[in-house]
Amino acid sequence: MASVRIVEVGPRDGLQNEKQNVPTEIKLALIERLTVAGLRDIEVTSFVSPKWVPQMADQAEVMRGLRRRPGMNYPVLTPNLKGFEAAVAEGAAEVAVFASASEGFSRKNINCSIDESIERFVPVLDAAARLGVRVRGYVSCAVECPYDGPIAPLQVARVTKRLHELGCYEVSVADTIGTATPGSVLRMLEAVAAEVPVEHLAGHFHDTYGMAIANIHASYGFGLRVFDSSVAGLGGCPYAKGATGNVATEDVVYLLHGMGVDTGIDLDALVDCGEWISAQLNRDNGSRVGKALAAKRR
Ligand code: HMG
Ligand code: MG
Repeated sequence: MASVRIVEVGPRDGLQNEKQNVPTEIKLALIERLTVAGLRDIEVTSFVSPKWVPQMADQAEVMRGLRRRPGMNYPVLTPNLKGFEAAVAEGAAEVAVFASASEGFSRKNINCSIDESIERFVPVLDAAARLGVRVRGYVSCAVECPYDGPIAPLQVARVTKRLHELGCYEVSVADTIGTATPGSVLRMLEAVAAEVPVEHLAGHFHDTYGMAIANIHASYGFGLRVFDSSVAGLGGCPYAKGATGNVATEDVVYLLHGMGVDTGIDLDALVDCGEWISAQLNRDNGSRVGKALAAKRR
């Protein structure tokens, strides 16, 4: 049976932009419920500057509070060696470095140029290789940038290739502002896959224009088998104005199961989790599937 790995980014990408302070216990309870629903890759926090992203300031407490289980993978974001060292000190076995395909977003998000960001990742990847820590990569603005406009597919391919060459086992190409369509995604993937084998790529779609599910369907057809998503469609990037949440995990699971593709996820338990976190945050459930299935039960 065909299968897809889903990387749940709700506790990180989903919560990082939340204005109200989300208590650490709620973050840990969310991670626990996602685990019960069958998610095995859960991006739990980020070791970034608390001045830049205050919501992630409890990263060490989150790491210490995890009920770690065998077979679980808890990646965390690390923008530099300082973040990497702090993450490893808290027991991280996988980290993610994040670059941008656009100069404008790179400056706003991590305060440096694309090339400077890659220079910062070199010592991270060296240290990770020495310590046996797995490193995933992200390339933001893989289709369009909120500051620089449309991004040339060859530029995305260049940055993705760099991260892969440095030692990232997988690079997730991200539609940060959720404006991509299957056409623009496929043009981008064609250029990227000419440089990095498709088995080493993942898709990360935000759903601002409601195109994320169509983009995942197209990417699956292209050969991608790893997708990032966020329960209840939580999220938005603090440095990408107007961008809404990630594609909802419930919607991705419903799509894939409908296509006969295995995800290892229990959709009912996931819907419960999405309803629960939406209530905790006092916000509308951003998953169409989650809302529909929850309404059917009432
Ligand atoms: P900077 O101000 O240029 O860095 O920020 P700096 O080296 O000059 O340091 C400034 C202060 O930050 C210093 O503290 C450092 O010690 C501290 P001070 O002396 O002022 O007290 N610092 C740190 N503290 C904790 N952890 C660290 C760290 N590094 C330095 N790792 C920096 C540069 C990269 C740190 C900053 O820009 C930053 O933290 N940016 C993170 C932004 C972010 O998290 N954005 C959201 C995640 S990316 C995303 O959402 C996109 C993604 O989902 C894919 C997609 O959809 O596109 C992945
Ligand atoms: Mg994102």
